[in-house]
Amino acid sequence: MDSILVKGNGPLSGQIPIAGAKNACLTLMPAALLSEEPLTLTNAPRLSDIKTMTQLLQSLGAEVTALQDGQVQAMSGHGVNSTHADYDIVRKMRASNLVLGPLLARFGEAEVSLPGGCAIGARPMDLHIHGLEAMGAEIELKDGYLHAKVPGGLKGAKIELAFASVGATENIVMAATLAKGTTVLKNAAREPEIVDLCDCLRRMGAQIEGDGSPTITIQGVDRLNGATHPVVTDRIELGTYMLAPAICGGEVELLGGRIDLVASFCEKLDAAGISVSETKNGLTVARKNGRVNAVDVTTEPFPGFPTDLQAQMMALLCTAEGTSVLEEKIFENRFMHAPELTRMGANIEVHGGTATVHGVEQLKGAPVMATDLRASVSLILAGLAAEGETLVSRVYHLDRGYEQVVRKFSGVGAHIERITS
Ligand code: UD1
Repeated sequence: MDSILVKGNGPLSGQIPIAGAKNACLTLMPAALLSEEPLTLTNAPRLSDIKTMTQLLQSLGAEVTALQDGQVQAMSGHGVNSTHADYDIVRKMRASNLVLGPLLARFGEAEVSLPGGCAIGARPMDLHIHGLEAMGAEIELKDGYLHAKVPGGLKGAKIELAFASVGATENIVMAATLAKGTTVLKNAAREPEIVDLCDCLRRMGAQIEGDGSPTITIQGVDRLNGATHPVVTDRIELGTYMLAPAICGGEVELLGGRIDLVASFCEKLDAAGISVSETKNGLTVARKNGRVNAVDVTTEPFPGFPTDLQAQMMALLCTAEGTSVLEEKIFENRFMHAPELTRMGANIEVHGGTATVHGVEQLKGAPVMATDLRASVSLILAGLAAEGETLVSRVYHLDRGYEQVVRKFSGVGAHIERITS
């Protein structure tokens, strides 16, 4: 298993290009199942999760071809001949559950294994199921699989989500594009990846309004056509790399960065004493002198502070002046990085969904273990702030969500290398 070796670093400078969003691509790819015609995604990130989704779509009979070193994904749902999403693939990644809505909408049936993914909480699928049932689907759980069918085809419905779940919103919106009549989805998730999915579906001929707001209205159509769609910038990769100069000092430009994707995160950086400014090509982040200020953070659905940046933000706050309180409101088991950061000299107390971080002056390098995708990059960030060497093991988590991570960090002067075993 590969590891990443990080050495404590001085100020960083230079540019980092930000890739297309993993989480957008993982819902855009299953959208190809909705049509007979080709869907081409440009600006796709090159990640193992994208390869897993490729395998899953291919197992259903779809054609998926990676072009330009994976930055373009050309897909066709023309040859789909199976509606069985197998446990062996689905267990690797929770986003596999996003084939459920499209398969049900186009073929009237689907058999999807309950998903796996990062071990950050229970992550059930009840909201997806209730939404699709409201549209006429009959769904039962048997042998670890959701068996869904809708003999007369899906019908538009009024659905209100009990929680603004990203995945449930995506599955329901995709299903509703081919349902008979109008679907009104209330308390829908408002994440940029949802807007990106709806933009792509509109290019395919879907009739959707209100995405980006809590109410999305979808007027079903008989069929969708092919399209070419550029994947939106990855706001989580963006926020992660914004923290590199925040932690090490210096000034780094994030190419393709947009404030509107990370507004609540920027507010917290500002309170911590980090400056963020817009440039012609993206965003520049700078930290001049001294320690950052402690800030309190509560994770919330978009436009609130993203849970996917909580671990990285904690790495920054470990060396802040004063005490920060981080509240995790989305996933109940998302502080697995805290004990690892403690091994590096951080002073963190975790009680349920709250972590209290008492800033220390200096972290110290240590061998640490990545426990999930965002936790692993938080340990790299902490390693850059630490004195001495930090060896992060189990970096396969990292490969799920960060392309060319060593190249991107070292391109701005970070001391980081991958050790292949
Ligand atoms: C997506 C993102 C993930 C991010 C998360 C929250 C993708 C591929 N993944 O995950 O990176 O961390 O949004 O921003 O886009 N829930 C239920 N029942 C359901 C569905 C969800 O109780 O049927 C709960 C979950 O357990 C969790 C919360 O709702 O506590 C948020 O989950 P959700 O928004 O659905 O996250 P994902 O779509 O899985």
